[in-house]
Amino acid sequence: MIKLIKSRKQWLLQRSEISESLGLVPTMGNLHLGHLSLAQKALDENKHILVTIFVNPKQFGPNEDFERYPRTLEQDLELLSGLKKNEDQVIYVFAPASIEEIYPIGFSTTISVKGVSEKLCGLSRPGHFDGVTTVVYQLFALARAQKAYFGQKDYQQYKVIEKMVHDLCLDIELLCCPIIRDQDGLALSSRNQYLSADEKKAALILSQTLQSIQKKIEQGEFQKIDTVELKNENSSTVQWDYLEILDGENLNEISSETKQVVALGAINIGKTRLIDNLLFPLTGASIVR
Ligand code: PAF
Repeated sequence: MIKLIKSRKQWLLQRSEISESLGLVPTMGNLHLGHLSLAQKALDENKHILVTIFVNPKQFGPNEDFERYPRTLEQDLELLSGLKKNEDQVIYVFAPASIEEIYPIGFSTTISVKGVSEKLCGLSRPGHFDGVTTVVYQLFALARAQKAYFGQKDYQQYKVIEKMVHDLCLDIELLCCPIIRDQDGLALSSRNQYLSADEKKAALILSQTLQSIQKKIEQGEFQKIDTVELKNENSSTVQWDYLEILDGENLNEISSETKQVVALGAINIGKTRLIDNLLFPLTGASIVR
């Protein structure tokens, strides 16, 4: 069963009646197979799930796509109803009817995680992660779920939320779920639909460059990778925002302690910004110069 909830009050009343485990899947809607994989995992691991659908104004900059971000509630509900679940499982969908349901008039709190939020996307999208952590904290408080599911595609976002949960001792388990890609390798994103067919082809440079980095590292050629050169090679159709190879645990520079590496990239194609990453183990031999 799917239960659509439009107000904070309605949700809090509903929440007081749920005694079994609850998994939270925070989204901004316009669901695709990536979101559905999170919701399916949540259904597999919890009695009930809460999918939140809220296009959070606080995480968009003044010149970003808040206004045009696709809002497709009917379609989202339809997609969620196709998930595999037992008869007694409920998918609660909290889609606030107004921004004030999340940020009541006079709302004046910001949750800000320093450090990990100040690099990569944090540099080109000032305030973005404060917007994310402020809304996610709020959703955690409203949901009181045992587990929350996020996509690896927004890996820095995941790491920022993980730090918030750690620093504030929040009683919730976080799960980072694999990136879902289309058949060409493009990571699924609601923003892909802004792209023309040609732009979609051009966007493949992002996943392909990350793959070539992973391959080089796995072949023990970490020292031969020049990310500046890689960006220059591939800059005719897309504008690179960043391309970095970092420690997958803390997003710091790779060191002798590094066990997992993450290669992350962000590109702009026209007005569309896309991000992607690959996370893989780093063997000691790979970083020997
Ligand atoms: O990843 C997203 O869709 C959003 O950043 C989130 C976590 C739902 C917060 O608005």
